[in-house]
Amino acid sequence: MRTTLVTGSAGFIGSNFVRMLRGRNEPVRVICLDKLTYCGNLANVADIVDKDRVVFVRGDICDAALVAELWKQYDIREVVHFAAESHVDRSILDSGPFVQTNIVGTQVLLDTARKLGCDRYLQVSTDEVYGSLPEHDKSAMFTEETPLAPNSPYSASKTAADCMVRAYFHTFGLPVLTTRCSNNYGPYHFPEKMIPLFVTNLMEGKKVPLYGDGMNIRDWLYVVDHCDAIWTVLNKGKPGEVYNIGGNNEMTNREVTEIVLREMGKPWDQWVQYVKDRPGHDRRYAIDASKIRRELGWEPKYRFDTAIRQTIQWYKDNETWWRAIKSGEYLTYYEKQYVSR
Ligand SMILES: NC(=O)c1ccc[n+]([C@@H]2O[C@H](COP(=O)([O-])OP(=O)(O)OC[C@H]3O[C@@H](n4cnc5c(N)ncnc54)[C@H](O)[C@@H]3O)[C@@H](O)[C@H]2O)c1
Repeated sequence: MRTTLVTGSAGFIGSNFVRMLRGRNEPVRVICLDKLTYCGNLANVADIVDKDRVVFVRGDICDAALVAELWKQYDIREVVHFAAESHVDRSILDSGPFVQTNIVGTQVLLDTARKLGCDRYLQVSTDEVYGSLPEHDKSAMFTEETPLAPNSPYSASKTAADCMVRAYFHTFGLPVLTTRCSNNYGPYHFPEKMIPLFVTNLMEGKKVPLYGDGMNIRDWLYVVDHCDAIWTVLNKGKPGEVYNIGGNNEMTNREVTEIVLREMGKPWDQWVQYVKDRPGHDRRYAIDASKIRRELGWEPKYRFDTAIRQTIQWYKDNETWWRAIKSGEYLTYYEKQYVSR
């Protein structure tokens, strides 16, 4: 059985990825490496950790000695690298941790892979590395050839990491793959991101904070579709290649808000609070995912209208999970971000 290192596996997408592998009984042993930062939560994977198929290690990807030790101990031959500082708003408050984890951490993994051997290394990146698209030209979309033009400290750090990945392919022949996905939604999403924040705020009887005019456009993909695409690229992708992943499901933040409010039976006038826009807020992201469809045969399986309903239901069924998070450090951040504006 192959052994795969999955970094950031106690976060939103990483935990869904490990759950998907276990649920499908894929023939793989997973070594989860996660620092359990403010957004990492052992509860996201605790019920699927076992000695044989899913091993959990708390640690920092920037710790080269630890990463090398794990590599040798578990005979790691494959990496799926999710671990990151991932929240744009936090990168505006302090970009230091983003440079450390997203750039230095990636370099440590690449270097260990190069020195100790690796059959496949998959970098989980984002469509945000391409910058912003004009909102009125609907034909404009990000392809894998679109020049990298990050606008936030978060996307700049992810872009730097992508460039290191590319360099390790060209310089050392490391068999790397890069995926760039649009916005995800689904279970286990840390409730500072838009959809889980809005759903849980409404459940708490609080208004939802909508940035600016609410007309920023994102392409939304259900997290399980993203995980399935990553697995497809890991198994069938061509080393050195980049694959865009998207749902072909562009919506303004206003439209997403309307759907969440409607599903939760809350009228707009009473429940929406406009807040000052995020500085440098990218206007539109839209992904052309034709390459992964054409070359690897991947297609999203979930429709937004049904998957958003399932997602809302998950937060209703798992109140203990998000209520435990929405306290302590979270409240300090929330005050700084929305209340003092
Ligand atoms: N969420 C999205 O919509 C989206 C879209 C496209 C790409 N991505 C990318 O997918 C990846 C996962 O995103 P997410 O939304 O699950 O993020 P997340 O913030 O929910 O999870 C990140 C995880 O990484 C861990 N981590 C952070 N620093 C670490 C370190 N130094 N060492 C070890 N572990 C560390 C955290 O504890 C956490 O468990 C990121 O690389 C992100 O850039 C996310």
